[in-house]
Amino acid sequence: MAQKQSYTGTAKFLHWIMALIWLAAWCIGILATHWRDELNAHHELTFLHKAIASTLIMLTVVRVAWRLTHPAPAFPENMSRAMKRAAHWGHVGLYTIALIGLPLSGWYWSSVADKPIMFGGLFVLPPLVAPAEGLYGLAKGIHTYMAWFCGAMVGGHILVALKHHLVDKDNVLKGMLPER
Ligand code: HEM
Ligand code: HEM
Repeated sequence: MAQKQSYTGTAKFLHWIMALIWLAAWCIGILATHWRDELNAHHELTFLHKAIASTLIMLTVVRVAWRLTHPAPAFPENMSRAMKRAAHWGHVGLYTIALIGLPLSGWYWSSVADKPIMFGGLFVLPPLVAPAEGLYGLAKGIHTYMAWFCGAMVGGHILVALKHHLVDKDNVLKGMLPER
């Protein structure tokens, strides 16, 4: 039986809409904290960061459900077994750390700090845990370090996707792009 070359249309749509939201949330998070006086004096970027990043929680539930019922295309034959295994675990890492762990850590931080999160700017998310002043530093540290770690992981993911396309000239990136 011929191997499927491409992700489903729904998987592609979810990947690209979530990639856009994720990258925007990451950049806005950095601007909000490191250019606080210039750009975030009234917490407007913090609000925006939390509003858009929180939508990833719901989108990830839909995406994981879709993924579990719709397998990914096979890796190209010219990839070694070790590379295929690395790619597989890289994707598992993106799902569990960048798409599930990081938003949860932000939600946890805001809950500990007793600060609201407007999901998509539409309604307030209920807190994950009770407010706890003593855990503020820990929650902030977890979210901040995780955000930088995930930034590196996603940066690597993008570089690998470009290498497949430009150097290996295989169908990995094409399999995630809209069909002509
Ligand atoms: C429910 C989801 C999330 C909440 C509630 C949340 C909350 C926050 C808050 C309160 C800050 C500090 C902003 C400030 O001090 O003004 C922050 C910083 C940050 N967040 Fe999030 N976040 C969430 C998800 C995410 C996601 C998905 C990403 C990555 C795409 C992300 C990346 C960052 C980054 C890079 C920073 C700046 C870290 C630094 O200080 O260098 N956050 N987040
Ligand atoms: C310009 C940015 C991006 C490009 C070019 C890109 C490219 C790709 C490509 C080509 C694939 C197919 C499989 C493979 O890599 O072997 C893929 C899969 C994936 N990407 Fe991205 N990506 C980008 C951004 C992101 C972002 C920001 C995230 C979220 C953190 C993300 C999460 C994932 C995940 C979880 C998969 C595995 C899909 C699955 O098998 O279910 N990507 N990406």
